[in-house]
Amino acid sequence: MINIDWSPAFQMGVGKIDEAHAGHLELLKGMTKLIHWGESPSEIRTWAEQLHHDFLSHNQEEEILMANLGYPELTEHQAVHTFLSSEIGDQVGHFTENADQTTMMRAVSRIGHMLLDHMIRHDLTILTFMQGRGLTEARLGLNG
Ligand SMILES: [Fe+2]
Ligand SMILES: [Fe+2]
Repeated sequence: MINIDWSPAFQMGVGKIDEAHAGHLELLKGMTKLIHWGESPSEIRTWAEQLHHDFLSHNQEEEILMANLGYPELTEHQAVHTFLSSEIGDQVGHFTENADQTTMMRAVSRIGHMLLDHMIRHDLTILTFMQGRGLTEARLGLNG
């Protein structure tokens, strides 16, 4: 069951990035509720596809941020994004017409764990890098 609320502990201090991460958690929570309520797999698949789409466009923004920062682990981080996008795509494939609740809950749970793990282990490392150089969103000129 994925029911994790947005927390300041996840905050990177870059508006667009934080909004996207919070949006991913909201979609996961919404999907969990819909599955629990017995919503049709096709409806939940729509949410899963939305999440996958949001993840892809968010990654592009995050990669631009890393490039602008001169972040040294950009290439590795990009490779993780590519891998995760493919893994999430595979999980979206589980939301077939006849998918049962257990299968769908398992797929949502896998997506949730992958996203959370990535946010905590990789994305927050960008924040550590920014803090080490005294960089903020305002100083990067990203909030205008
Ligand atoms: Fe990332
Ligand atoms: Fe991210």
